[in-house]
Amino acid sequence: MRAMPKLENPVPVEVIGAGYYLPERILTNADLERMVETSDDWIVERTGIHERRIADETMSTSDMAVLAARKALEHAQLAAEDVDMIICATVTPDMMFPSTACLVQRGIEARNAFAFDISAACTGFIYALATAYTYLASGYVGNALIIGAEKLSAITDYKDRNTCVLFGDGAGAVVLKRTGRAGHGIRDFILESDGRNAHWLQVPAGGSRMPASTKSIGERLHYISMEGREVFKFAVTAMKRTTVRIAERNNLKAEEITWLIPHQANKRIIDAAAQALGLDQSHIHYNIHKYGNMSAASTAVGLAEVVLHYNLKEGDYLLLVAFGAGMTWGSLLIRW
Ligand code: COA
Repeated sequence: MRAMPKLENPVPVEVIGAGYYLPERILTNADLERMVETSDDWIVERTGIHERRIADETMSTSDMAVLAARKALEHAQLAAEDVDMIICATVTPDMMFPSTACLVQRGIEARNAFAFDISAACTGFIYALATAYTYLASGYVGNALIIGAEKLSAITDYKDRNTCVLFGDGAGAVVLKRTGRAGHGIRDFILESDGRNAHWLQVPAGGSRMPASTKSIGERLHYISMEGREVFKFAVTAMKRTTVRIAERNNLKAEEITWLIPHQANKRIIDAAAQALGLDQSHIHYNIHKYGNMSAASTAVGLAEVVLHYNLKEGDYLLLVAFGAGMTWGSLLIRW
């Protein structure tokens, strides 16, 4: 597939604040051994996951997003009323409508912003950052609050061992701003999708095709259904290709990438992408072992963790890569 061309003379759109929230409750592999026929060894060996966080019944996706957003705004020293735009990437919105981004707007009292959601599954946070870049680069807005938030436990079937070991809950947020520092910030992105295999990863019921009914509930069709092996094969190819392509077209060698911040679906998929680039493991940011796959929140929390805890230096390169349902995939390059 062809990718869209590289950004020409990108304007400086920079991350000026970051925050994340993870629920306190931990669901371990040992807990899952008591729920389905699985084992800690199998889960660790096949996925790299040891535990994941689970939000309690009263906490929704927007509640987690609000907590992450408040931290990002505080870090950016930006008042909520000065936020211009809010984008929330999620596949687990609080409701079909209104958007989760509007609920976040209410929660943080960002009364001067406009807000909308993006649905690109696990690639959603990269799609949201790229979308925000275009609004900021055009001058339509001066700043943007970008969130990846998921309560995947709400759509996970804890009777299905093929999927229930994989997913967790959480939220990450960053504040983007157009600055005057030429050569810094978002430098390039690649967004791709292929709807032909949309059925590989889906929640079949609850939308307009199959509204909720006693039958759909009885058949457990409101949970994630996944053709794991197909997704795995696709993911390895897509992640390798987008990672290598964005590095090459920006003339970056593996050793020039400070942090690879990949979607955390499976450690084997992450390692395959890094290997294709020739990147040393010490430059990969992993959080899969402690949080599992949080869909759009995986890269959002990952970026926030790197920004907050890794003592970044001017000129460091951060490379985000992800794939997800749709199928969607993509990458985004930031120069600190
Ligand atoms: N515990 C123990 N055994 C399990 C299991 C579990 N939790 N889940 C599946 N198995 C079994 C399968 O039933 C299968 O048994 P069989 O050979 O008797 O049919 C066996 O383990 C191997 O299954 P397979 O699908 O080949 O395993 P795998 O090595 O491909 O790993 C996944 C399974 C799901 C971890 C892997 O395919 C994957 O990561 N896929 C991508 C998923 C993904 O990224 N989803 C989100 C996209 S954003």
